[in-house]
Amino acid sequence: MENGLKIVTIGGGSTYTPELIEGFIKRYDELPVKEIWLVDVQEGKEKLEIVAAFAKRMVEASGVPINIFTTLDREEALKDADFVTTQFRVGLLQARAKDEMIPLRYNNIGQETNGAGGLFKGLRTIPVILDICSDMERLCPDAWLINFTNPAGMVTEAVARYSNIKKVVGLCNGPIGIEKGIAEILEVSHDRIYVEFAGLNHMVFAKRIFLDGKEVTKHVLGLMTDHEDKLALKNIDEDGWETQFIKKLNMIPIGYLRYYYQTSKMLAHQKESLAKEGTRAEVVMRVEEELLEMYKDPNLKTKPKQLEQRGGAYYSEAACKLITSIYNDKRDIQTVNTVNNGAVADIDAQSVVEVNCVITKQGPLPITTGELPIPVKGLVQQIKTFERLAIEAAVTGDYDTALLALTVNPLTTSDTDAKSMLDDLLEAHKDYLPQFFLKL
Ligand code: G6P
Repeated sequence: MENGLKIVTIGGGSTYTPELIEGFIKRYDELPVKEIWLVDVQEGKEKLEIVAAFAKRMVEASGVPINIFTTLDREEALKDADFVTTQFRVGLLQARAKDEMIPLRYNNIGQETNGAGGLFKGLRTIPVILDICSDMERLCPDAWLINFTNPAGMVTEAVARYSNIKKVVGLCNGPIGIEKGIAEILEVSHDRIYVEFAGLNHMVFAKRIFLDGKEVTKHVLGLMTDHEDKLALKNIDEDGWETQFIKKLNMIPIGYLRYYYQTSKMLAHQKESLAKEGTRAEVVMRVEEELLEMYKDPNLKTKPKQLEQRGGAYYSEAACKLITSIYNDKRDIQTVNTVNNGAVADIDAQSVVEVNCVITKQGPLPITTGELPIPVKGLVQQIKTFERLAIEAAVTGDYDTALLALTVNPLTTSDTDAKSMLDDLLEAHKDYLPQFFLKL
């Protein structure tokens, strides 16, 4: 850390990277980053070079003294890192397309982080993040791991339970997006509101909302159904919520809850979109092509507006704010994925939850939010059960555990469908699931 921080971004060739670079540039005064190492794999080399060249132009135009490096050698990059951010996708977008498409054959939701797709993204990703953790243990044992890789809650819990890296935080842009949406609905600045979140990643609820210290949850819920666009995620087709349901629920659910409370509608949307424009992965591939073409332009020096077509709005704000607060021991409150330790009463202490935390130099300190309200308690616990089984399956490569995980997932329509989806997805992702296939 001498004379500035070393940040390593694994999956650095992602088209989201300019978001991060912009965040580090903006915060340079309080976060003196000296080096950013963008790491990728051979298949991502071309993207990495385009993204890095653009990142260098952004830095140069800003005048801050940050040096950007690229490498395919993760170990070279990790040496003496202060913060490691992960945003990689095992099997690239082609694998995501399979996660989104195959379940639809069985009339099951096909989604990147939920149901069968979420299970398989976890199965592919967890062994890789655990390898990264072993490298970190040797090469940068004091570094913080900031994990953005989806399914972020599951991946973060795998690190917490199965690695020796304890300085880990999982991050999602969802909660900050909801907060900004609420501020817009109320037509006030973001810093006047406080939102108490409780749940799991992509299964989180804005439980209580305060404006200038006064609770306004009911008021916001009253306004919400006319302003749902302000809370919408770019990657999810959204129809309105039933007004009476949402008022009685008395919380704002993250958009991903639509897969659970509007399953048939969402399935119909997915099938319609598949026929019209392909899977979300295919849409994202086209957006990426367009973005990479723009990034190649030597005159482009700031993040283009087109990046907003992706679901990761406020991604850089969430990541850079977190890193800045850890570094400066700010003790402000942010919503992150961390080991529960009693903050959500109905989830076991060792599991990772998405909850408000005080962000300190020693990491996030979760703020107690008490019991989950009865209407959502069962579902959140059930998803945590699924996540725990999924993590165990990812680590052991045990077929029966994977089958159990998928069958108990509330989006799975039957035990028979679970087995068929599991077999199809295992076959489709064979190359990225050595733990299931290379048994001694
Ligand atoms: C949301 C989620 C992220 C996810 C993204 C997908 O913002 O919070 O976890 O990665 O959407 O967006 P994409 O543009 O890849 O479909």
